[in-house]
Amino acid sequence: MRARALDAAAEERRDNALLTKAIAAYLELLKMNDRLSDQRLKEIGERTLDRIRFRGNYMGAEPVYKLLINRFPDDPGYRNNLSISYLMANRADLAEDVLKEILQRWPKDRVALAHLGFVLKTRHNRLEEAVDLFQKALEGDIGPANEPRFYYHLGDALLLLGRYEEAHQVHVRGAKLGHFLSPSQRSLYNVERLKSRPWWNLDETPYTKLARSLENSWREILKEGNAARAMYEEEKEGLKERGEWSQLDLFVRGQEIPERCKRAPVTCSIVRREAAAAGCRRGQIKFSVMEAGTHVRPHVGPTNCRLRMHLALTNTKNTFIRVDKEIRQWETGKVLMFDDSFEHEVWHNGTGARLVLIVDVWHPDLTPAERRQLPSI
Ligand code: OGA
Ligand code: MN
Repeated sequence: MRARALDAAAEERRDNALLTKAIAAYLELLKMNDRLSDQRLKEIGERTLDRIRFRGNYMGAEPVYKLLINRFPDDPGYRNNLSISYLMANRADLAEDVLKEILQRWPKDRVALAHLGFVLKTRHNRLEEAVDLFQKALEGDIGPANEPRFYYHLGDALLLLGRYEEAHQVHVRGAKLGHFLSPSQRSLYNVERLKSRPWWNLDETPYTKLARSLENSWREILKEGNAARAMYEEEKEGLKERGEWSQLDLFVRGQEIPERCKRAPVTCSIVRREAAAAGCRRGQIKFSVMEAGTHVRPHVGPTNCRLRMHLALTNTKNTFIRVDKEIRQWETGKVLMFDDSFEHEVWHNGTGARLVLIVDVWHPDLTPAERRQLPSI
């Protein structure tokens, strides 16, 4: 009763301190679990888990799941949810062990198959095995793993393996199920009504002024990008098939990185004048350098809420970017604009390190309220 009263008061007053007390009281009660009936244990356990998740303390869920798994050893659901809590807590190592246990006993459990596929892909880059697991989890496009992110990761693993035809089939299936905006526009964080097109003309956006300012200052921006070369970080998402590709973030999720902007004052002062760029919480502003011989595999960005500008700075000869079906080339000192939620791919078949400045801006169809309220990515 004490737990329930605290819980209700926390909810009513939206008070996190009370919620913490309520969770502690539930956990005390659960310590006496041998005196609770199956039904009561289930009810109290699930309410406790719900409150722990709401609080965002994913490791805190572990002891509760262990109790439930002990009492209901034949229900794979609690083990699956424990593994999901581990993933949310960035403990893929612990999740992996639990998922393997589940699959030993329930080899066809689709939730476990899909999550283990996710772990093998993202943690170990074991792409073939991940593909096999996803395929079993999604067979017939039915069942509890039928979720956008698993279609995304299956297609993406196939793309990374260069199995383009199979990837395309998965993307068509995903789009038919409504998981993707279209087979080629596969971002997962979307606002539905936004105008969708791979390449944009600047004149159709409110961003011509920003683009012209960037173009007018491209030589200084190039100098700043070159001077900071020691600070660039290698791209780590495994997107490149071969070559070298590094980036230097200046703004991330609408937040300036002050030490970096000190090194690139002209660049940052230009983008600061456009709130839709400097404040784009679903984007970045960064330099991107790519060595000759690099190929970046087809991939998509996470959201349709931004458009992406590239100011070309140097060594753009014989470099190419495909967005959806159309390949274009950079022109030094000029801005290109595209929607990176569409599949895109890059080749550097030229010589020297190609440098571009990438500037994300809010999609022009987003309302001011959406720009304020959309959670960052
Ligand atoms: C991108 C991208 C590669 C590059 O901007 O989304 O994939 O050319 N760019 O730097
Ligand atoms: Mn990209």
